[in-house]
Amino acid sequence: MDKLINLDERLKMCASLVRESARLVDVGCDHAYLSISLLKSGKISYAIASDINEMPLKSGENNAVKYGVDNIAFRLGSGLEAIKPEDRITDIVIAGMGGEIISGIIDESPLTRDKNINLVLQPMSKSEELISYLYKNGFEIIKQKCVVSKGKCYTVMSACYTGSSPETDDTFPYIGKLDLENETNLRFMKTQLRHLENKSKGDSSLLNIIEKIEQVIK
Ligand SMILES: C[S@@+](CC[C@H](N)C(=O)[O-])C[C@H]1O[C@@H](n2cnc3c(N)ncnc32)[C@H](O)[C@@H]1O
Repeated sequence: MDKLINLDERLKMCASLVRESARLVDVGCDHAYLSISLLKSGKISYAIASDINEMPLKSGENNAVKYGVDNIAFRLGSGLEAIKPEDRITDIVIAGMGGEIISGIIDESPLTRDKNINLVLQPMSKSEELISYLYKNGFEIIKQKCVVSKGKCYTVMSACYTGSSPETDDTFPYIGKLDLENETNLRFMKTQLRHLENKSKGDSSLLNIIEKIEQVIK
């Protein structure tokens, strides 16, 4: 089939952070739309679509047949366990999962500690936990953006391993590398603030962070 896949805005943003000619692994691929779309557009020429569950992997395989894509390998496994150094992966996408699950997947695989690998990360929740994890463990955010998709605001980032952990303040996990002049980023920050305000009812130490964030997004 010669049809192009119309990705939603969230996955389009993830696709935009994958590098040209990358050898990609999409962890938690589900439908595999991201890999299929990148392969069909010619931005990349090889992808591994991997998932911990058989059902989503099967649906990805069916979609690859439906869209006539054959340069895609499907692997069953948790996180990056089915990926080998011989796969010569350059870019890793982990999208559509909670920030703590994404951190766990990064932490469990030595493959992520390669300075040449581009990590594209899209947490559905707890982005602050993911950003804290990255900065405590030698990773740096290269780009971070927000996007509205189907009425919801998401953040997407690219990151890589540098081996050093620069000092950051306590607002950094919430703001990360977002440009606060951008309206969509501000919308994301306002949602973050609402979550923080709710959490602060049980943890008054967060009030200080709320105050600092309010000052910068005014
Ligand atoms: C909500 S879907 C996201 C699909 C796609 N990445 C996206 O962003 O649209 C989450 C997928 O991640 C898979 N998954 C959850 N935990 C995983 C893990 N530890 N390793 C690999 N896949 C996982 C699930 O089976 C599911 O297919």
